Amino acid sequence: MLNWDEFHAEENAVIGNQSAAAAAAQSATNNQPQENPAAEPAARAESVSSEPANEQRAERALEDAPEDHTSKNSAPVSDALQRARETLAKMDIQEGIADLEGTVGRVRVDEKRMINCRADLNQLVPFKYDWAWQKYLDGCSNHWMPQEVNMSADVQLWKNPQGLTDDERRIVKRSLGFFSTADSLVANNLVLATYRLITNPECRQYILRQSFEEAIHTHAYQYCIESLGMDEGEIFNMYREVPVVAKKAQWGIEYTRELSDPSFTTGTVETDKALLQNLIAFYCVLEGIFFYCGFTQILSMGRRNKMTGVAEQFQYILRDESMHVNFGVDVINQIKIENPHLWDQGMRDKATQMILEGTELEIAYARDTMPRGVLGMNASMMEEYLQFIANRRLAQLGLPEQFKGVTNPFPWMSEIMDLRKEKNFFETRVTEYQVGGALSWE
Ligand SMILES: [Fe+2]
Ligand SMILES: [Fe+2]
Repeated sequence: MLNWDEFHAEENAVIGNQSAAAAAAQSATNNQPQENPAAEPAARAESVSSEPANEQRAERALEDAPEDHTSKNSAPVSDALQRARETLAKMDIQEGIADLEGTVGRVRVDEKRMINCRADLNQLVPFKYDWAWQKYLDGCSNHWMPQEVNMSADVQLWKNPQGLTDDERRIVKRSLGFFSTADSLVANNLVLATYRLITNPECRQYILRQSFEEAIHTHAYQYCIESLGMDEGEIFNMYREVPVVAKKAQWGIEYTRELSDPSFTTGTVETDKALLQNLIAFYCVLEGIFFYCGFTQILSMGRRNKMTGVAEQFQYILRDESMHVNFGVDVINQIKIENPHLWDQGMRDKATQMILEGTELEIAYARDTMPRGVLGMNASMMEEYLQFIANRRLAQLGLPEQFKGVTNPFPWMSEIMDLRKEKNFFETRVTEYQVGGALSWE
């Protein structure tokens, strides 16, 4: 693969060749008529050796020449070019700026708001929400790509009829079935609803990064499905055809329908609350609860040295998702601080109910995917884990916990989320990305 230095060397070589070709062409013009090709090198040499003198003459000629705005190319100006020039000549800079979001003036920090902001959204700085910018930087430093993960052991195991039990196969299929479309739902909501309605440039910068991460996640599932030679139609249609998967997807879609309508705007109590519900649905429930049963199952498989490639992909995705959840919680809480009237008892009750609905749907998914004990876990252990996660989500939003006395039966999950990429428990070989460089392998 080309590295950065080689790229510049190659680029310079191209430029050098172009210069030589241009000099040769100029020389040929200067020496016309030129019938003998053998004379060309000598003519080029003469042209090169007299270059400084020629440049000085050319500079003097330019200084003496009257100001000329027409093209140096004497070819007639086409109608299209003429129209382009006339349009640019008529352009009004002030009018263009007024059309941009926000005010025309420089941005002051105290004008910045999470929603319904009137300050110019095209000016990233000065920062108000440093946590959002820091999360953008953290996301970039955690970059990874699905093709970095070696899938050969997984392919061998999946294709071996004795490699996995039926229950283990069901877990792999259901997980890929749900996630392969769930991440697209999340990405669509971000791009078509959240991005437009969050009126803060540093948060938008993170949302752009998150959107790319969601694309990588969908890519990762597709990469697993293709590597294992699965029936793509069956897997990608589970979110419509398998009831416990379809219900989770449908639950999320309900919260994005109104907001992804291009005519939807915030600015009233009702519409601002609709945005808050959308953020809670996607950040706290879809990404914060719906991913947890499948992730725990696949990562548990990896800990037992089965489907280690799929598990490694899920591990990277889980680490990204935990940051998405934390970002979403910070956004929701900031909106609450700036708009305390939105967080009334009705909204708090609604948020609690949404978390509980999500928990119930995920428990149903756990029961469907684990009709009996598998991989050292069972549905009732998962139920407790999901209730533990639900308590955590409620606490993050400042709401009272709903499940008293539950504990985390899978403490190793928290450890995985905090691990750095190059130090995971599978001792993966990929090291950190270098700017402009190729991947290096140890
Ligand atoms: Fe994702
Ligand atoms: Fe996500």
